[in-house]
Amino acid sequence: MTFWKNLRLLITISAGLLIIFALVQTFPVWQLDPTLDPRNPPAQYEVRWESAEAQQIMHSVCYTCHSNETEYPVYMRIAPLSWVAAQHVNQGRARLNFSEQPLDSINPNVMIAMIQADVMPPPAYRLTHPEANLTPAQKALLIDSIAMTFDRAATSTTSVADAS
Ligand code: HEC
Repeated sequence: MTFWKNLRLLITISAGLLIIFALVQTFPVWQLDPTLDPRNPPAQYEVRWESAEAQQIMHSVCYTCHSNETEYPVYMRIAPLSWVAAQHVNQGRARLNFSEQPLDSINPNVMIAMIQADVMPPPAYRLTHPEANLTPAQKALLIDSIAMTFDRAATSTTSVADAS
């Protein structure tokens, strides 16, 4: 009977896909391509942003892509989504990484301009991360904090190696 044949085929294919999916979870793909590594490398620098609220916004909104303190949502830890996420995070880190760049190598005016122009955080990211849709008040606070943090740049960047 073709019904049973088809059903058996369907079950075989599903089981096969399930096994492939499970194997992919355990496969360290970053040994082939390091940019797909979703793990956080150790931080060399830690910026102390002016005001606790700015600190919180920076960490929850910008540090996903611009630091070595990326926190992935549960669904983003599952391959192959985790590889896509890691690739995006790597693109952000390559341009700006608060965990690896001393503060005097970062231009605060570019950061401020990007927040003002609504370019950062990226619009596509804001679709799936409601907390990244900053209110005008949050933006103003963040911009003030960035300006103040860079004003006292000499003391605001602590090398983790120095601190320990
Ligand atoms: C979803 C990941 C993501 C988030 C979240 C994010 N960025 Fe970015 N950011 C990027 C990527 C990717 C680039 C590189 C864009 C390009 O090359 O076109 C970038 C570029 C930048 C640059 C330009 C760096 C340079 O000199 O080229 C600045 C400044 C910046 N981001 C600031 C921020 C700030 C501030 C926040 C938080 C308000 C933020 N970003 C949030 C991914 C992100």
